[in-house]
Amino acid sequence: IPVDTFDLVIFGGTGDLARRKILPGLFRRYCAGQMPPEAQIIGAARSEMTDDEYRAFVREAVDEFGSTPHEPGQFDAFLGRVGYQRVDAKGSDGWEDLGARLRDDAVRAFYFSVGPALFGDLAERLRTFGLATQDTRIVVEKPFGHDLQSARALNRELAEHFNEGQIYRIDHYLGKETVQNLMAVRFGNMLFEPLWNAQHVDHIQITVAETVGVGGRGGYYDKSGAMRDMIQNHLMQLLCLIAMEPPARFEPDSVRDEKLKVIRALDPVEPHHVVRGQYAADENQPGYRAHVEDPRSTTESFVALKAHISNWRWAGTPFYLRTGKMLRARTSEIAVVFKDAPHSIFGAEAGRHRNMLAIRLQPNEGMTLDVTIKEPGPGGMRLVDVPLDMSFADALGPDGADMPDAYERLIMDVIRGNQTLFMRGDEVEAAWAWTDPIIESWARRGDVPKPYDPGGSGPDDALMLMHRDGRRWRDIKA
Ligand code: BG6
Repeated sequence: IPVDTFDLVIFGGTGDLARRKILPGLFRRYCAGQMPPEAQIIGAARSEMTDDEYRAFVREAVDEFGSTPHEPGQFDAFLGRVGYQRVDAKGSDGWEDLGARLRDDAVRAFYFSVGPALFGDLAERLRTFGLATQDTRIVVEKPFGHDLQSARALNRELAEHFNEGQIYRIDHYLGKETVQNLMAVRFGNMLFEPLWNAQHVDHIQITVAETVGVGGRGGYYDKSGAMRDMIQNHLMQLLCLIAMEPPARFEPDSVRDEKLKVIRALDPVEPHHVVRGQYAADENQPGYRAHVEDPRSTTESFVALKAHISNWRWAGTPFYLRTGKMLRARTSEIAVVFKDAPHSIFGAEAGRHRNMLAIRLQPNEGMTLDVTIKEPGPGGMRLVDVPLDMSFADALGPDGADMPDAYERLIMDVIRGNQTLFMRGDEVEAAWAWTDPIIESWARRGDVPKPYDPGGSGPDDALMLMHRDGRRWRDIKA
């Protein structure tokens, strides 16, 4: 379904995110017929560039990062919707010209694909130069602050010029099809929800493992670390969707109220329930410290932790979270491990068997439910756990499994004016309020992350975090 016609201005229009995600995503939506033919995309940045030069830049970006099969002429038609305007985020140059390009009868959205230091300047200029209407939307990228204090300051700054209903804070994990699928699985089926609580669930594991290192992003990453870069936002969102109460409706505040309640119910994390790691060098590649300025950096590229949610549904069920770079495989999954049956009629020799629902978010998107069955054979009642396995690709066919990139979905939601998959200001602040004390305790104790070998599953202490509780992580494997 095509969205209403729009003017989308991308501040940071020549930046990395625009190149890799936003522009290719828009092209794919165009080819899918979702972008109305009169829509306009205007790249805006500091440098001088003509419309044609920017179109060439867009063409290259789309070719490099995600073109899609299209009709002859479609690429040129798309580029015909693209323009460029030089603006000075801290001065007054270019703003009136930018305003002159915008139409009164189109949805107006401004994408702040720039560092948070410029959010306030941009918001203010949109107001002073009269570019923001009542209905104008602004889209802001992570990192949304560095801690609670800076996130509050950003929220205050934006609130001076825009109301909450106009602010779209992106966490691109919410744009992933498989992440939205978590809600479909939980609230579209009768099967799972009655068991989805501390009475039946032993524990939940959330893993987001990456094979890449920090590469060329050392400058940003070394000031953040895995806690700020991944746990505070992406893993927190996954935790919320897995743990929240059923919202009354699939509507922005209904969903976001429930997520916020989860974050607010999180207990402070005990220092000995957190493991930090930093990848070391091996014979093939340099370690973390070679990618950052400070050769003695104590920033973590891996975190594993145990969290508790103190509410009626989850009291007593731990949530184990882990994420890291340079691990064995790129894999994100959530495993819900159910409790043992209360009594085994087969005796102790049948061993311990439990159901486990693993939801694979990426890659090989799908779900596996481990069920216990009789091992065939005459040798008595021996039990074995086998997977009921479903992959999106098999179940839905190649078309169904051809999933739009997270950014495509999210940008279209901005134009549609649907905030369900965007973070509200209070949610972001609550997430920082939970992560800040953990980070502060490392600084206070002079904590140094444990080195770990590239290509493995993180430091041994992370395995111990679960072993101590008589549990084990699922293997990180492709
Ligand atoms: C980003 C982080 O938000 O998410 C990166 O800054 C990380 O460090 C990335 O690599 C992971 O996203 P995805 O979509 O590749 O899982």
